[in-house]
Amino acid sequence: MAQLWQGRASKAVDSRVNDFNSSIRFDARMIEQDIRGSMVHSAMLGRQGVIAQSDVQAIHAGLRGILDDLHSGALSIDPAAEDVHTFVEQTLTARIGDAGKRLHTGRSRNDQVALDLRLYLRGEVEHLQTQLRELIGVLCTQAEKSAGYVMPGYTHLQRAQPVTFGHQLMAYAWMLLRDLGRLRDAQARMDAECPLGSGALAGTTYPLDRFYTAQELGFAAPCANSIDGVSDRDFCIEIAAALATCMMHLSRLSEEVILWCSWEFKFIELDDAFTTGSSIMPQKKNPDVTELIRGKTGRVYGDLNTLLVMMKGIPLAYDKDMQEDKEAIFDAVDTLELCLRTVTPMLATMTPLPANMRRAAAQGFINATDCADYLTKKGMPFRDAYKCTGTMVAACIAAGKTLEELTLDEFKQYSDLFAEDVYAAIDLSACCEGRTSYGGPTKASVLHQIELVRDQLSKGATVAH
Ligand code: ARG
Repeated sequence: MAQLWQGRASKAVDSRVNDFNSSIRFDARMIEQDIRGSMVHSAMLGRQGVIAQSDVQAIHAGLRGILDDLHSGALSIDPAAEDVHTFVEQTLTARIGDAGKRLHTGRSRNDQVALDLRLYLRGEVEHLQTQLRELIGVLCTQAEKSAGYVMPGYTHLQRAQPVTFGHQLMAYAWMLLRDLGRLRDAQARMDAECPLGSGALAGTTYPLDRFYTAQELGFAAPCANSIDGVSDRDFCIEIAAALATCMMHLSRLSEEVILWCSWEFKFIELDDAFTTGSSIMPQKKNPDVTELIRGKTGRVYGDLNTLLVMMKGIPLAYDKDMQEDKEAIFDAVDTLELCLRTVTPMLATMTPLPANMRRAAAQGFINATDCADYLTKKGMPFRDAYKCTGTMVAACIAAGKTLEELTLDEFKQYSDLFAEDVYAAIDLSACCEGRTSYGGPTKASVLHQIELVRDQLSKGATVAH
């Protein structure tokens, strides 16, 4: 397939330059968006009297034919084409003749690619939002079942204070809900301004109706600056940043799942269908899905970095560097898609093991804060109560005991303030259920959070509270 830009050069371009220059192997995926843009652009040219209605009809019939043939397999994309825009225009012209040559009137591939990419990403980002909503829904369902399962909460990966498994899961639901909001915000900004009609960079002398094309293509308005329209890729960067943040959350969740299903923790059991085996160790059941998510997070960070570095030094308006935007943002979108597609059913089918969570909670003195709080509520200044409890913990560790295994006499050796009710105060469930401050780990709080999150999901809003 020849270039669209023949005429000026005195000889053919070196085949190595052609190969280097070509983007068809990765921009072919935007062909439907490219055709849609051409439909609307040509309809507008017809309405404005720039081209004849008969040409518009021929172009539309030709473009529809291309789309049908692509779907049926009768037409395949020529890998030798320079890019998807070239392929569509040349295929159209080969099929309908001169009318095809009129399609590009008042347009450049610079505004065309800026449009196609936005349209393509609109669909992808909408799909990712649907997937994220499913995942958040699964976390709510699992949290509802495990709202009362006491487990140790950790800081520094040291057992710290009692929480519930439901509370821990809902922490991720809130993070992912914000990711959903970030995607929606990015999409709203991307859909606000339509670049079509910016031309190469300086608009055109044809009487285009950019408000018509913007509206037909689902944008709020045409962009008001033609240079901006073809120059910026901040919409890609913003989406990539949202995807990178979401991957970071998934990676953290994955890391916890990996810990939780290890023999050292055994807080959960993954469904066999979502684990893999070892070629040599018959006993192994590996959480490969979560390890891959953790691993793939780096490549999405890399995609974001590629976009940021690509853009930081190029002068306005279009530069060929910008062709590199697509592989990066497509990879980021594809990677999150793949991760969400797999992690959601994996989490839906995991089984929490509350007895093991509770066993872990019983060790590690996670009720030490509650013991100090007990003394504080009886009148001892908190700092003294903290010190007193610390001494008790040290003695218990030396004796191989837990706090609740101390007799009342033993308690009283540390402070006269201790009475029979200390056992209730440091009981694990009571410690957890007693944390009634708003946003805490109690069963009621977890159920309240689930209600809030579900409400946000059903309203389509994502800003919490
Ligand atoms: N394949 C190009 C890209 O992805 C399309 C725009 C080409 N424009 C140009 N002036 N060479 O950026």
